Amino acid sequence: MAELTLTRICKSFGALDVIKGIDLDVRSGEFVVFVGPSGCGKSTLLRIIAGLEESTSGALTIGGKDVTHAEPSERGIAMVFQSYALYPHMTVAENIGFGLSLARRPKAEIEAKVRAAAETLQLTHLLDRKPKALSGGQRQRVAIGRAIVRDPKVFLFDEPLSNLDASLRAQMRLEIAELHARLKTTMIYVTHDQVEAMTMADKIVVLNGGRVEQVGSPMELYRKPVTPFVAGFIGSPKMNLYTGEIAHRFGCETYGIRPEHIRLSEAEGEWQGRVRHIERLGADAILYLDVPDVGEMVVRAEGETAFATGAAVWASPMKGAAHKFGA
Ligand SMILES: Nc1ncnc2c1ncn2[C@@H]1O[C@H](COP(=O)(O)OP(=O)(O)OP(=O)(O)O)[C@@H](O)[C@H]1O
Ligand SMILES: [Mg+2]
Repeated sequence: MAELTLTRICKSFGALDVIKGIDLDVRSGEFVVFVGPSGCGKSTLLRIIAGLEESTSGALTIGGKDVTHAEPSERGIAMVFQSYALYPHMTVAENIGFGLSLARRPKAEIEAKVRAAAETLQLTHLLDRKPKALSGGQRQRVAIGRAIVRDPKVFLFDEPLSNLDASLRAQMRLEIAELHARLKTTMIYVTHDQVEAMTMADKIVVLNGGRVEQVGSPMELYRKPVTPFVAGFIGSPKMNLYTGEIAHRFGCETYGIRPEHIRLSEAEGEWQGRVRHIERLGADAILYLDVPDVGEMVVRAEGETAFATGAAVWASPMKGAAHKFGA
């Protein structure tokens, strides 16, 4: 367990400024998630923390120690990548223990650590298998096991679940969250999946174009996004955001209303529109409305909606639920 501090971290590749002055504190034992669109610098920032990339300027401490220029091996971190490249000719046990074998640790120590990691990750019954005889989720657990046996002070994950199918992702999401609850090790986790960010993080860092857009707990970001960018990034389906005439009518530059904060009525409301398309998910339904002079409006309705495609409908924001930016 260790805390991290990033102070004015910058990174340029030639003339391209990728990380533009990032300040961030991560508390010991915290689960921090970096989110942001493709190319915003998530992986680069993680690689700077790991020591796989040197920052152009700024300072980094881990556990109170300045590691800005330290070798990766001196930082007490372990990283798990999206592609977890296991050695195909080695068993699960050999894969998990490989780093320790390389470091010439005593055999008994390696065996004990591999066994403990396998137990934590429910891989004990698979220790003698080769990677080709494992499912995607099991392989990902082996990759995590490889990281665990090193007793890192900080775990770094770069989109570890993006190669898995939807149901495995949901399962592994839960397993990593529970692993964190058990190990209580500081974790930094990169994703562009906002569901992973919302459900796993103690703290979310929203990155945009190499800068921090907002830092906060998942519910802080959901309830009080400080910019339209954060508003559009946190929450699913995404917040309806309007600029121009409609925003000005509400006295702001950008007016936002979440799909789950809109009520529909046949008789009356704020905006009148027509249902263009409906996605019925069972527990709820997502309605896509065309509202003249406003544009598309996405509405999440609980249960099976009574409205049909093509129906005329009135939509109203729930009281106090609207977000106004640049007021
Ligand atoms: N070694 C490099 N040389 C030059 N440019 C690079 C290098 N590595 C990354 N970049 C650029 O830096 C920017 C940030 O890349 P990075 O991989 O950090 O993005 P990301 O947020 O992880 O994106 P994704 O979600 O697609 O993984 C991109 O524009 C990328 O092209
Ligand atoms: Mg990346």
